[in-house]
Amino acid sequence: MAETMIKPENSDLTTKERIRSVEKTLSIIKPDGVSRGLVGEVIKQLEAAKFQIAAMKLIHMTKAQAEGFYAVHKERPFFDSVTTFMSSGPAVVMVLKGENVIAEYREIMGATDHKKAAEGTIRKNYATDIEKNVVHGSDSPETAALEISYFFNRFELVD
Ligand code: CMP
Repeated sequence: MAETMIKPENSDLTTKERIRSVEKTLSIIKPDGVSRGLVGEVIKQLEAAKFQIAAMKLIHMTKAQAEGFYAVHKERPFFDSVTTFMSSGPAVVMVLKGENVIAEYREIMGATDHKKAAEGTIRKNYATDIEKNVVHGSDSPETAALEISYFFNRFELVD
């Protein structure tokens, strides 16, 4: 008996296309980005990428709040320095929404170390060292959910 192959829906799509889904991610324009007047430039790039801004505010973290945010890095040698930097001045926190936004935003940001970042990325163009790297973005859906809830409650998110 000939076996009938049932073609799954969307089977003509590539794997990459099939796994695309609407995600949210946390974006921070760090104190160096705000003090250097880069807020407009960064937001221009987010809008050009067609990310939806689902929430946005200007904050000035205390050292303790920055330590809470970067708690996963508390054993790292740069922990004290990065939390001092992140609490040194105002920062813009945003929730970005879109298909595959976590990975796509990370591509636009470039590598953490601006010397290793690809041409045309925000960090390649504007970062001044590995710490003062202008922007932050969540690295996974789990981290994004945690990081978003660190700064925003559900009433602050626009769908
Ligand atoms: P971010 O992507 O926000 O995550 C952790 C931050 O720590 C990083 O960007 C930098 O601002 C800062 N940092 C400083 N030194 C390092 C380092 N050696 N490796 C990774 N992150 C660093």
